[in-house]
Amino acid sequence: MSAPFDLRPLVATDHEAAARLLHRSLVHWYQSRLGQGARFGPSHEPFRLFPEVYAELDRGHAVAACDRASGELLGVCFVHPRKTHVAVGIVATAPEAQGRGVARAMLTPVIAQARRDHLPVRLVSSLLNLDSFSLYSRLGFVPHTLYQDLTLAVPTTGLPGPAPAGAHRVRVVSDPAEAARLAAFEFELQGLDRESDYAFFLRNQVGAWRVSALDDADGALAGFLVASHHPSCVMLGPGVARDEAAAAALLWSALDALRGASPVFLLPCTAAALIQQCYVWGARNVELHAAQSLGPIPPARGLSFPTFLPESG
Ligand SMILES: CC(C)(COP(=O)(O)OP(=O)(O)OC[C@H]1O[C@@H](n2cnc3c(N)ncnc32)[C@H](O)[C@@H]1OP(=O)(O)O)[C@@H](O)C(=O)NCCC(=O)NCCS
Repeated sequence: MSAPFDLRPLVATDHEAAARLLHRSLVHWYQSRLGQGARFGPSHEPFRLFPEVYAELDRGHAVAACDRASGELLGVCFVHPRKTHVAVGIVATAPEAQGRGVARAMLTPVIAQARRDHLPVRLVSSLLNLDSFSLYSRLGFVPHTLYQDLTLAVPTTGLPGPAPAGAHRVRVVSDPAEAARLAAFEFELQGLDRESDYAFFLRNQVGAWRVSALDDADGALAGFLVASHHPSCVMLGPGVARDEAAAAALLWSALDALRGASPVFLLPCTAAALIQQCYVWGARNVELHAAQSLGPIPPARGLSFPTFLPESG
């Protein structure tokens, strides 16, 4: 069947419809397939944060698919072009339009542009959601890192047990001039450059972010971690750590700052000791994600903490 929809950039007047679509699409998919629709809450309101943040961070790059006859929004695809790569996410299609090629159509021009720019396209996709995994797999994406999503209800009295080594040396970063240093560290370890994101968090526009960093005794950066404490998205990441010990110190500090909240965070499944430590703190598994790339995957060292806002890694 020919596709009765058109693609155009998402604009500010679409934000309400985009929030409704994200909420409806996620609730419908997770409820009908897994009986887990309730995890996205009863209201679309919190989902306004996504188009609003992305309008600031990646203005003009989000794709909207609209019904040709009614103009109604059928799909959204948020795109995050960076110097080293193009990242994609969230992608969502309205429940009644799923399986009609809407998501593939939104992604096709994004992939074509990235090819012209000789950049890989990257994303993190749920392994509980075969529709999403299959969409990307058919488009040629290859998984390279497996992550487990954990949630932790941080007691109001703080995490149990002693703080890990280095936790008390974690400092809050508030100077936007440090964005370049954080970005250079991520580039050195992960081959990704997204300085504009770090400058954005440090200016703390739209969302509500806390950026923390850990320095070695010699003053070199050992890691950093961004935490969103916006009520619509209580989540840790993005962040990068040189090793599991630095990651543990950063995580402890970020969790301690969120007493009484239940943040979600993604850890590479290979970070075995860190994951065991998180269980001791009370973490529970809630999802599995695979980082995928279409195009070369830069060799990576250290640990990366992906996030859903922004999905720019
Ligand atoms: C994931 C999602 C965006 C897909 O959107 P969609 O518009 O239905 O996807 P499309 O119709 O464009 O493409 C689906 C592709 O997956 C393929 N596919 C689906 N299930 C498959 C399976 N089990 N095995 C192989 N291929 C499969 C389809 O054949 C199609 O590929 P094709 O175009 O080559 O035929 C949609 O299900 C959705 O919105 N889900 C809820 C939100 C969500 O979870 N988003 C992703 C995470 S942020």
